[in-house]
Amino acid sequence: MGRFKTPLRYPGGKQRLSPFIVEILEANSIDGHYIEPYAGGAGVAMELLLSKKVTNIHLNDSYIGIYAFWYAVINHPEELCRKILSASMTVEEWRKRQLIVKEANKDDLLELGFSTFYLNRCNRSGVIKAGVIGGLKQSGNYKMDARFNRNDLINRIESIALFKDKIHISNMDAEFYIDNYLPNIPNNSLIYLDPPYFNKASGLYLNSYKNEDHSRIGEKIQKDIKQNWILSYDGVQEILDIYSRRRHFLYDLQYSAQTVKKGKEVFIFDDNITIPEKCSLNYVDDGLKEIFNNF
Ligand SMILES: C[S@@+](CC[C@H](N)C(=O)[O-])C[C@H]1O[C@@H](n2cnc3c(N)ncnc32)[C@H](O)[C@@H]1O
Repeated sequence: MGRFKTPLRYPGGKQRLSPFIVEILEANSIDGHYIEPYAGGAGVAMELLLSKKVTNIHLNDSYIGIYAFWYAVINHPEELCRKILSASMTVEEWRKRQLIVKEANKDDLLELGFSTFYLNRCNRSGVIKAGVIGGLKQSGNYKMDARFNRNDLINRIESIALFKDKIHISNMDAEFYIDNYLPNIPNNSLIYLDPPYFNKASGLYLNSYKNEDHSRIGEKIQKDIKQNWILSYDGVQEILDIYSRRRHFLYDLQYSAQTVKKGKEVFIFDDNITIPEKCSLNYVDDGLKEIFNNF
């Protein structure tokens, strides 16, 4: 599978899971629609679409800045690339982009999408509310343009734009999306849910959940989603409790955000999913063995 990279940096980005998701798609004979209700940087979705493992991807994110970025990629790729090419790499420009993101004016999604992207590439760990790489005095070893390789980013955006008719974006709350959007998706599809982490999410994303939200969404996912679904989270006991009746395994993923230490993540499976016999993930407990013994 080609190693296509999403243009967005994402704390907790899951692109490294792509080979595993392909194994799930193949084991379940799914090659049509793939859906991410919490899309963020959508690294897995983009890799699956561009390597033609699926025909259509559906990306939803409740955060308007991320939606605006995907909107700009699909609807105004040339203007977006022009803005990237001519973007000024100064703290003054960074402050301007910060203000636009804060105001979040929906009437100019191209400008909002570009500004979100600018902060994503120029801020520490790609976190929208973090500081600029190199600091306001630009005195650090790395400067704000350290992750702003214009040609590479433009190439990535142009590659995605070629598939624009196959990319379906929305800006809904995930619960609303489950109730109102997913019922129109074909049954033989794969839904990958990657909600904000249970721990520390509020420092990483502009939209995150409180404890009771995790329980409520957990009930909804398990009760209301009719298609095949898989779910990833940080592997904390509270989450294991919410999904205690589902098959799961814990694995290790090295986070890129400085605020989160290397830790265990959990993957949880809808009862209808066939789990591939050979699995490319390095799991850290024997949950996977249990899965194989039980199914
Ligand atoms: C863990 S990140 C997803 C990362 C993604 N899988 C990737 O690889 O880049 C969670 C995403 O969910 C979004 N989000 C948070 N609360 C949401 C909600 N209630 N409904 C939909 N999206 C939400 C956040 O804006 C964030 O982009």
